[in-house]
Amino acid sequence: MKKLMAANWKMYKTGAEAVATVNEMAAMLNGTAPEGREIAVFVPFTALEAASAAMKSISGASTGAENLYPASEGAFTGEISPVMIKACGAAWVLTGHSERRHILGESDEFVGQKTAFALQSGLRVMLCIGETLEERESGLLRNVLERQLKLGLKDVPAETPAEALAIAYEPVWAIGTGKTATNDDIVETHAICRELMREIMGAKADETPLLYGGSVKPANAGSILTLDNVDGVLVGGASLKAESFTQIINA
Ligand code: PGA
Repeated sequence: MKKLMAANWKMYKTGAEAVATVNEMAAMLNGTAPEGREIAVFVPFTALEAASAAMKSISGASTGAENLYPASEGAFTGEISPVMIKACGAAWVLTGHSERRHILGESDEFVGQKTAFALQSGLRVMLCIGETLEERESGLLRNVLERQLKLGLKDVPAETPAEALAIAYEPVWAIGTGKTATNDDIVETHAICRELMREIMGAKADETPLLYGGSVKPANAGSILTLDNVDGVLVGGASLKAESFTQIINA
């Protein structure tokens, strides 16, 4: 399986800024993802069309939206559908990011609806899961991951190809805090995630990329990528500058 190198630009970058960053990445990568690597960059809606057009200059790279509403169209003021996301030239969408769960109040059930609808609509989905520090310290790690995976994947159509889905494990306490989980934590938690994925999706679990996210940077990406059950990384802060994300892609 290729390592999936994903960037989450969150609420950063206008269209022009996004295009400038993609163009810098294209120059640094000589127009292609390195061998054995695939690149996905999640960008704000307002930059999606321009960034997707610019991303065509990097082979093996695509863009994604950071959110969707689970309907093709309708009276949902302020929301964006998978049809619109695909029309912007994006291939992916994120679901279940901890900022949407914890700041915007999204439930596991709603994350599940979004995941299933996006897949049915032909988008690739990166479903994010992860525990808070309080949950980890109360011994609830496995329960939280199990609930988020079961409800997040509840209505995923059986015929979904393995490459249409990726899971990103991001401990909430390691996101944007500079605190990376230790390599031992990552190995232990990724083993739990893979076991739960096997229970839920059978053999397909081994072909579904499982990414780590949370304060990944050029200095730690290389060692994280060698760990068991780590098929890629999802990078926030350190993906905003072309130079540091390119270093991570090449790690
Ligand atoms: P971070 O964010 O790399 O800034 O910790 C990761 C994420 O939220 O996806």
